[in-house]
Amino acid sequence: MTSTVRGAQLARLLGQWHSLPGRRRSPDYAALAGAVRGLLSDGRLPLGVRLPAERELAEALAVSRTTVSAAYRTLRESGHLNSRRGAGSWTTLPQGHRVATSGLWAADDDRDVLELGVAASPAPDELVAAARAAADDLPRYLGGAGYHPTGLVELREAVAAGYTGRGVVTSAEQILITAGTQQALDLVLRLSVPAGSPVLAESPTYPNALAALSARRARISTHGLDPATGWDGEMLLGALRQGRPRLAYVIPEFQNPTGHLMDTALRERMVAAAHTAGTELVVDESFVDLPLDGQQMPPPVAVFDRHSRVVSIGGMSKGYWGGLRIGWVRASAPLVQRLAAIRVGVDMASPVLEQLVAVRLLEQSQQIVTVRREQLRARRDALVAALREQLPEWSFTVPGGGIMLWAEMDGPISSALSRAAEDVGVRLAPGPRFGLDGTMERFLRLPFALPEADLAEAVKRIAEVRYDLDRGARPSWRTPTVIA
Ligand SMILES: Cc1ncc(COP(=O)(O)O)c(C=O)c1O
Repeated sequence: MTSTVRGAQLARLLGQWHSLPGRRRSPDYAALAGAVRGLLSDGRLPLGVRLPAERELAEALAVSRTTVSAAYRTLRESGHLNSRRGAGSWTTLPQGHRVATSGLWAADDDRDVLELGVAASPAPDELVAAARAAADDLPRYLGGAGYHPTGLVELREAVAAGYTGRGVVTSAEQILITAGTQQALDLVLRLSVPAGSPVLAESPTYPNALAALSARRARISTHGLDPATGWDGEMLLGALRQGRPRLAYVIPEFQNPTGHLMDTALRERMVAAAHTAGTELVVDESFVDLPLDGQQMPPPVAVFDRHSRVVSIGGMSKGYWGGLRIGWVRASAPLVQRLAAIRVGVDMASPVLEQLVAVRLLEQSQQIVTVRREQLRARRDALVAALREQLPEWSFTVPGGGIMLWAEMDGPISSALSRAAEDVGVRLAPGPRFGLDGTMERFLRLPFALPEADLAEAVKRIAEVRYDLDRGARPSWRTPTVIA
């Protein structure tokens, strides 16, 4: 996908580059180069995009062309820009800086570790009773072969009713039951993304989605989210219009990892832009059940879809339990049939018993999700309080929902800190896990799924190892940090 950042766009991203903290008396060109490096390392400016011509950026920033020229030269020398005479300049990272973002990225069951690497909660109290009731329901299905590639009708109906309740009329034929949201994404990609197709993802984003995209050998490009404010509408719509990706993957509700919630206006504009660009929009609604402040939720993105461009995926892992492995796709009925045909070649169908447990849990959704929200709100507040007390230099936006916050630390230390935290029994997901190319070293995702006391203890330990890093040798900007 060819992608060029225009002068005005880059100027907007650069914001107050003149007066960034720590600037002191450096010349303009050095400050400008530093600000571009900052955008790159935070993943807000993607790698491999063409920067505006010097004259264009000079105009947009109201500085002399010599300043931009010198800034670009500095970026070339530090390895952040590749230029070809006559062709332009592309963003890149210094040799050896890239950090592996792939690798096994799931919880393991080491009980002695304070697990902050995974954003998911334990099962609700109702689960065992629901499983018993489901076992009683099972005889209704035992006379058949047990293969239901699109899912049990009663579960599809319950999921469809959930969408209808959220404002987008949905029938059971529009629902495919999958083994979690992850399989829903994988199936959609199998159908829609031939190897080498351009796809657009958020930066930062959910690592296992990046793994699924890489597994399909998609050509991934990204649009950056602002850690404080979330989506940059112009960048997102520009990336759709300019790159015309085959598919775009977004997480509009309490985005993983930043926790932002996309507003209604941008939802509508995004669907329109995807339609114009011929892009299939895959909307991951994993966290939609978890607004924590009693706020009114924006309508589902699918509400704005008049041309079957939107495929919604979701599941029960965050509101209920990940161990159920129940997820779904909501799409047009013909697309559901095509996905089911692919699914038969993967795992045939979802287990009947688990689907029956899911039906029983959805019958009690109001109660289960209310308790979960209350629990998560208390835990979020405990995490926020602990961070403010123990690590006051870190900044973050308090998320209005979901299970995580995205902290901006006081240095590019995420991988080093995560390694050090492991030694004191805290497992972390370092920032680069959520970027494509080893960027995001200044960020750390912190889930708040653990009980309050565990969160307080984890932050205390993190603060200790963070201050130890200052005392010992700290990996510098150029030192590769391998975490795979
Ligand atoms: C955004 C997002 N999508 C998908 C998943 C995977 O969910 P599931 O357990 O439903 O496969 C997760 C889990 O963390 C997630 O955060």
